Amino acid sequence: MAKPAASARKRSVQQANRRDEVTGTDFVGHEWDGIEELNTPLPRWWLWALYISIAWGVVYVVLYPAWPMLHSATSGTLGWTSRGQLAAEMDAEAARRAPMVRALAAVDLNALPANRELMQFAVAGGAAAFRANCVQCHGSGATGTPGYANLRDDDWLWGGDMNAIHFTITNGIRNPDHPQTRMSLMPAFGRDGILTAQQIDDVVSHVRVISGQERASASAARGAVLFAENCAVCHGPTGAGMRTVGAPRLTDRIWLYGGDRATLTTSIANSRRAVMPAWGGRLDPVTINMLTAYVHSLGGGEAAPAPAAPAAAPATNAPSNTP
Ligand code: HEC
Ligand code: HEC
Repeated sequence: MAKPAASARKRSVQQANRRDEVTGTDFVGHEWDGIEELNTPLPRWWLWALYISIAWGVVYVVLYPAWPMLHSATSGTLGWTSRGQLAAEMDAEAARRAPMVRALAAVDLNALPANRELMQFAVAGGAAAFRANCVQCHGSGATGTPGYANLRDDDWLWGGDMNAIHFTITNGIRNPDHPQTRMSLMPAFGRDGILTAQQIDDVVSHVRVISGQERASASAARGAVLFAENCAVCHGPTGAGMRTVGAPRLTDRIWLYGGDRATLTTSIANSRRAVMPAWGGRLDPVTINMLTAYVHSLGGGEAAPAPAAPAAAPATNAPSNTP
């Protein structure tokens, strides 16, 4: 700002000593085009708010981490950190869940659905673990994609009771690094020269007849003979499938890969042999129990097969919440 001329400064001083009649407030001494500035004091409440916030700021800086340093920040006398708070909250959450988690670790899976509260807890945890580990193959709704089994229906390759699901998740399917894995390898009938292209065409006709997609034909009749010789050992004489070898039922319209001629021809000529990872070493046992409960709850869960003898009465220390 330009330095005011001497006369102007003089006028300012005079005006500064004047008082505005309306408000009773002193003039500051500035005037622009006849508009003058009053020296109105700041409202008291505003000043107090300012002083209090300054005081609060000082106290905060003393108590909490505030000034950034090279690698961290001043730590504050309370020793509080956001990381520490998160850890404490997570510990509290873990403590809250601990009884449920302990119960789940020990539970007999077949008895789990009867325990409403624990089952709900397991299904919720399983749904979260499923989103993290399984959706890339089985889809976010667990309905699967070609080759990746639909887990929502009651059509099971390997079995849909709690123990079967638990076994599949723990050990995987055709997992090359896992000795316990579920294993069965359908021969590649075309690629390995077991059947000719014509024979595969006939057996495709037969599969389409037993799945209700085609009428009986001479080709299908020839295929039926081939089926009995080459396929019944795994898919069963009627094509109903066999869970011990994970061979899908071929008589329904539920397909792992597809029921049209081209897809069937590929399945039979080349075999598919899809791999499902084993989760036993990667996820903790409680998470696997939760996943089992979740998959079982999706709609197709089966009851346990009737035991041959009531031999192993499950000794669980799980609290029973069922009436
Ligand atoms: C890399 C892909 C992949 C991932 C990831 C995967 N699966 Fe699978 N899963 C498969 C395939 C492929 C099959 C079918 C294998 C076959 O042809 O028998 C399968 C089959 C299954 C089955 C057997 C279904 C039946 O009908 O018997 C269950 C149960 C299952 N998966 C659960 C899970 C769960 C739970 C997870 C996550 C922890 C998971 N899968 C993650 C690929 C995957
Ligand atoms: C060693 C057991 C075994 C034999 C023998 C076998 N299969 Fe399979 N088949 C399987 C298994 C296991 C699958 C599941 C897919 C996979 O992982 O290969 C399957 C899948 C299929 C599929 C795919 C079904 C779908 O839902 O998409 C068709 C079709 C099929 N087999 C037809 C046949 C025919 C026809 C023969 C005889 C020429 C045959 N299989 C022999 C075990 C067998």
